[in-house]
Amino acid sequence: MSISLRVNLGGLEMKNPVTVASGTFAYGEEYDQYFDISQLGAVTVKSLSLRPRAGNPPPRLVETPAGMLNAIGLQNVGIEAYLKDKLPFLRKKGCTIIGNIYGHSPEEYAQLAQRLEAEGGADAIEANLSCPNVHDARTARGCSLVAQNPELVRQYTVAIKTATRLPVFVKLSPNVVDIVESAVAAQEGGADAVSLINTLLGMGINPETRRPILSNIVGGLSGPAIRPVAVKMVWDVAKHLKIPILGMGGICTASDAMQFILAGARAVAVGSYVFREPTAPMKIVQGLDDYCRRHGVADINQLVGAMAV
Ligand SMILES: Cc1cc2nc3c(=O)[nH]c(=O)nc-3n(C[C@H](O)[C@H](O)[C@H](O)COP(=O)(O)O)c2cc1C
Repeated sequence: MSISLRVNLGGLEMKNPVTVASGTFAYGEEYDQYFDISQLGAVTVKSLSLRPRAGNPPPRLVETPAGMLNAIGLQNVGIEAYLKDKLPFLRKKGCTIIGNIYGHSPEEYAQLAQRLEAEGGADAIEANLSCPNVHDARTARGCSLVAQNPELVRQYTVAIKTATRLPVFVKLSPNVVDIVESAVAAQEGGADAVSLINTLLGMGINPETRRPILSNIVGGLSGPAIRPVAVKMVWDVAKHLKIPILGMGGICTASDAMQFILAGARAVAVGSYVFREPTAPMKIVQGLDDYCRRHGVADINQLVGAMAV
């Protein structure tokens, strides 16, 4: 039986529904020694900003009982160094690229999207809207991140969509009362897909020193601990959206990935788990093929949102 794993994620053609989560795969090169990264549905690169960022001082990454807490602080090489030093490798390999961007105003996001499109730096844009709302503190009404204010999510999405013809995915934060509101706002702003979830806010304290475990005090929790939260959010959002979902949060195996697909995700991203098992994304591609074979399903698209109730 021939199985098709091809999916179309808001205009992005992917040979299979598996990508990696931004910030856990750098720009791909290091992982290519473990497996041929062009075999992934797409490579999602670390958030790119207009200028390089050093991120937060250590300690900025610690293990938790079922995942990790990070406050990397969006360290990245900056868009120009990405285009010059990182992109050629990905293009030579023939990778499909999701260019994740991070800025401090709608204009910065628009500029980043434009630059990526002009230089062939990405096949789709993923906008990480978990950025501080320094743009207009008054409209934020007490919210600290753009992703926490649906009206700002809509405005930023419009700005990015106006700047590029590439498919635009808006990455949402789970640190909200109702993620459906943010997802609907992204759709209204013209997003081609939504990515969820980013990390859940968390912190730890060393009782002996009485000091916070992370230099930044607060960080983002990821890994298997957040998987049930992420699956529920994908399911909630899928019920209210016409545009597709890129689901992530604690995916380690093909069986985990299937939970997201059955809940309504068109594609999935493997994040923290690649630190433990660098070949996990490829094993998941194979595992999805096996799953379809075992269940007599010729096209994986038939399984999107197919949870039996
Ligand atoms: C070390 C680390 C760095 C991350 N950096 C980014 C980033 O630069 N941009 C972004 O949108 N998300 C970033 N994330 C969030 C992941 O892309 C993903 O949304 C989250 O970790 C949930 O997936 P997981 O549980 O499989 O890791 C980062 C996560 C980790 C663990």
